[in-house]
Amino acid sequence: MRKKVTVVGAGNVGANCALRIAGKELADVVLVDVVEGVPQGKALDILQSGPVEGYDVSLTGANDYAPTANSDIVVITAGFPRTPGMSRDDLLLKNYEVVRSATEQAVKFSPNCILILVTNPLDAMCWTAFHVSKFSKNRVIGMAGVLDTARFRTFIAQELDVSVSNVTAMVLGGHGDTMVPIARLTSVSGIPLSELLDQAVIDRLIDRARNGGAEIVKYLKTGSAYYAPSAAAVEMVESILKDKKKVLPCAAYLEGEYGIKDLFVGVPVKLGSRGIENIYQIALRPEEQAALDKSAAAVKELIDVIKQKM
Ligand code: APR
Repeated sequence: MRKKVTVVGAGNVGANCALRIAGKELADVVLVDVVEGVPQGKALDILQSGPVEGYDVSLTGANDYAPTANSDIVVITAGFPRTPGMSRDDLLLKNYEVVRSATEQAVKFSPNCILILVTNPLDAMCWTAFHVSKFSKNRVIGMAGVLDTARFRTFIAQELDVSVSNVTAMVLGGHGDTMVPIARLTSVSGIPLSELLDQAVIDRLIDRARNGGAEIVKYLKTGSAYYAPSAAAVEMVESILKDKKKVLPCAAYLEGEYGIKDLFVGVPVKLGSRGIENIYQIALRPEEQAALDKSAAAVKELIDVIKQKM
């Protein structure tokens, strides 16, 4: 029997997740949205690409959660995107309500699923879904680091004129302006970045990666990025469904790792059929730990706002 993935939110990120999951034949997909007709229409459109692209999966759209029953994974992309001048944090209260209700309904029909959060502000939305679902911490995961490292890797590859597939990067922390790219653990085919680029250039690339989302919002004007975010979410879906055990930077619930408690923050994890199968703790230098602490403090500020709403 094929696996089943529900994608909540049939907007830009959600529809592209559905398209990529179908294209890779990872699972049957149910798209859910509050807007009548949109998930149905987009699912049908993607389904009709199947004969051309050569994939055999089922895609359906719905405005309720009954058709999502027994999903293996639920990807939550529902909510409002940023527009120019907004930070991800500005979305907090609006998207809190969306993610709370989406989680409640999704887990009612798929009590054994793994939840992948994409909606921003990401780390706070993960925390919301974790508390609403009451799932174990290995089954609530946030998509941020895969995207942030993809941006960093892109800029490094461009700068050096090398293949992106040779560049591996490490980004820790919250999915926001305080994210912590660790240049020391970033390499090109094993060659440390510091052997290849001056510190000033590395700093410029880090800065661009940190503001990578805002750069795209500025161009698009009416919304935020969705091609790379959906690609990143689907890499996580694939690692789980195929039990590939990829080590990826994801937002995970921390209980003391890196000195952080009761928060979702981006760290390297192993993603397999049980969701997060390991959280890797790497020894940080004092300045890296300080940057991570600052990032965690920014996430905590949002959680404190949410706690008052709960
Ligand atoms: N339940 C289901 N769908 C909802 C709900 C809800 N309660 N509320 C809103 N939606 C739907 C909207 O109808 C819309 O189709 O979520 C979709 C969001 O799509 P877009 O506006 O295109 O936004 P998108 O670019 O996909 O971003 C979604 O992902 O990357 C993050 O910051 C981004 O938080 C944003 C989210």
